[in-house]
Amino acid sequence: MSDSVDVAIVGGGIIGLACACRARQAGLSVTLLERERTGEGTSHVAAGMLAPVAEVEFGEAGRRVLDLGLRSAGMWPQFGAELEARTGLAVGLRRTGTLVVARDEDEARELERQLVFRESLGLRAERLLPSAARELEPALTPTIRLALHAPEDHSVDPRLVLEALRQACELEGVAVREHTPVASVEQDGERITGVVLESGERIDAGQVVLAAGAWTSELGLPAEASIPVRPVKGQILRLGDPTGPGLLTKVVRFHGGYLVPRGDGRYVLGATVEERGHDMHPTAGGVYELLRDAHELVPGIEELRIEELSVGLRPSTPDNTPVIGPGGLEGLVWATGHHRNGILLAPLTAELVTSTLTGTMVLS
Ligand code: GLY
Repeated sequence: MSDSVDVAIVGGGIIGLACACRARQAGLSVTLLERERTGEGTSHVAAGMLAPVAEVEFGEAGRRVLDLGLRSAGMWPQFGAELEARTGLAVGLRRTGTLVVARDEDEARELERQLVFRESLGLRAERLLPSAARELEPALTPTIRLALHAPEDHSVDPRLVLEALRQACELEGVAVREHTPVASVEQDGERITGVVLESGERIDAGQVVLAAGAWTSELGLPAEASIPVRPVKGQILRLGDPTGPGLLTKVVRFHGGYLVPRGDGRYVLGATVEERGHDMHPTAGGVYELLRDAHELVPGIEELRIEELSVGLRPSTPDNTPVIGPGGLEGLVWATGHHRNGILLAPLTAELVTSTLTGTMVLS
């Protein structure tokens, strides 16, 4: 049995879903292939920080991610509003800003360096003394040393976004096929011709988008057309305050983790960063470190209830920058390697991929 479409998208996380939706809106016929259930992998575990300023890293790769991150952060309000208008579902965009907090002298020195770095890039980041930081977030321990406020770094609730994207894909007419693992990407000479499923079924496609995240390397691509994407494990806790919201308002980041308030008394506490292949087991050590570090900073978390412990695999390239656009073979389009930034970069990735698919833009 064989099917034929303009575009086959491999991977049904936030990147695959966003690309599918946009490509369909651009008039292409799209089949999305997900090995398990859409939006149940790494995207489902993600905290949802839209934080290009707080997360910027030194070096050329850091600058590239910053550039993409700022562009995509700027697109999020409209992307979210469009999804909400199309589906009637909320995406949980919260414009709260982010605080990066130093707990001791060493961390304060490092934060001063980070402030200078952001200033040199023209980014909006304010230096806050402990009293000012605690005015914004009274739950912070009185012993903090310094804080950096990034007022334009916000958050969304990825689980709400995924639900809205699923519905939007359905409304737009994307053929979404779950529990449909892809065995190989097919080619004829230098040209992609489609994919073969593990069931043996073949889907002919003019173009194939690889959005399989941490499973990209398992797709059986020829060596000349493959990109090394490794899984980077993250353990993450979901906490709930039985007394309701109010402990924290802003996203709070610290050495070793972050706390993301959802605004309704729920908090996401993440995340470990571990090189352990596809290992998905949570560990006592990982959870201990997250709780210890967060508790040092926000002692009030000890009253929160643990609602969920989950593990995600970030898809990461050797320099941790994403691969978005054409490459390797004619008709092959990359949308992977988003590392810690998949939620942030979803709107921009969808635009870049769709421009590539429709031939309306040549990517550099
Ligand atoms: N984006 C946060 C993380 O990967 O933990």
